[in-house]
Amino acid sequence: MANAVKRIGVLTSGGDAPGMNAAIRSVVRACTYMGIECVGIRRGYNGLINGDFTVLQNDNVAHIINRGGTILYTARSDEFRTLEGQKKAAATCKLLGLDGIVSIGGDGSFRGLVELAKQGISVVGVPATIDNDIVCTGYTIGYDTAANTAVEAIDRLRDTMQSHERCSVVEVMGRNAGHLALYVGLATGATAVLVPEKPVDFDRDVIDRIRQARLAGNTHFMIIVAEGAGSAIEIGKGIHEELGLDPRVTILGHIQRGGTPSARDRVMASRMGYHAVQDAGRRQDEPRHLRTGRSDGRHRYHRGPFHEEGAQRAAVRGAAGDDGHRQLNPDKKIGACCTAARPFSIPEQLFRHLPFPSLS
Ligand code: F6P
Repeated sequence: MANAVKRIGVLTSGGDAPGMNAAIRSVVRACTYMGIECVGIRRGYNGLINGDFTVLQNDNVAHIINRGGTILYTARSDEFRTLEGQKKAAATCKLLGLDGIVSIGGDGSFRGLVELAKQGISVVGVPATIDNDIVCTGYTIGYDTAANTAVEAIDRLRDTMQSHERCSVVEVMGRNAGHLALYVGLATGATAVLVPEKPVDFDRDVIDRIRQARLAGNTHFMIIVAEGAGSAIEIGKGIHEELGLDPRVTILGHIQRGGTPSARDRVMASRMGYHAVQDAGRRQDEPRHLRTGRSDGRHRYHRGPFHEEGAQRAAVRGAAGDDGHRQLNPDKKIGACCTAARPFSIPEQLFRHLPFPSLS
């Protein structure tokens, strides 16, 4: 089929995530393969507003598959949250002759796509955030690397906590979601894990857990706190007051966002980037969303009419690893379509898609 799409833009937005560069590389190379020009938009949606762009070809993305961060820079754009900013961004797309935008990022980036689509721009979203909190996708680029980074740091902490017979309280990123903390807690055999999805009862979830561990013969304790579940410093103070222990508090912070992406993140990014471009070039007869998932090692495509309501739905998958989606914060809007509960174990990616104006 002749490809009517001639030029697309790619940007990274929101908090960076390891594997974003691999996704950019994949988008550029897929474009080259499909005969599409690729324009890199710098500094997220700010770049669209200001016309901050660079033409990307295969050479520009050589040797970046292993690099953390994003060569396109990233930002959280206040201006793009306004209608005026969104109109400016859409005007830039038209000025540059972009047939569509591929946005690589997290929930804010997806919300941005929803707004851009309202301005008549075709969009495809590639989920990338260490938080893994985009509804309808079981996996977001960067999650695996961030988890491995946190696990490595906690293993180091454990050595010294064990030697001194101490208690450690570690704060893990994740914004309003506890996926990363829970996953890391499981991987490190933590004494307790606190996540925002489950109301914390300090006595039951922390103090009793430490007491039980002590009765079982443990002399060091590891408490993992998702940043959305409370302050590690306050929890450390509470442990001191209740048990007389002298906990050491570590906030892992942005270290979790950096570093060379894991093999899993590189491969997922490479696949997602390719499919994003492939879908961008696909003829569509009506507004649709596209969700692509991997099951049994194969990509599956789920298509259907695009639901604005679904795209605006405020839902985050339950961090407890259950099969359901939980309504955590009604104000939190994620630009992804939520349709059905999905088993935690099935990795899936979501691409949101509307037809390109030139094709409709
Ligand atoms: O969304 C990714 C994330 O790293 C969250 O886990 C964290 O809450 C937030 O970004 C931190 O944002 P910033 O880089 O603006 O400090």
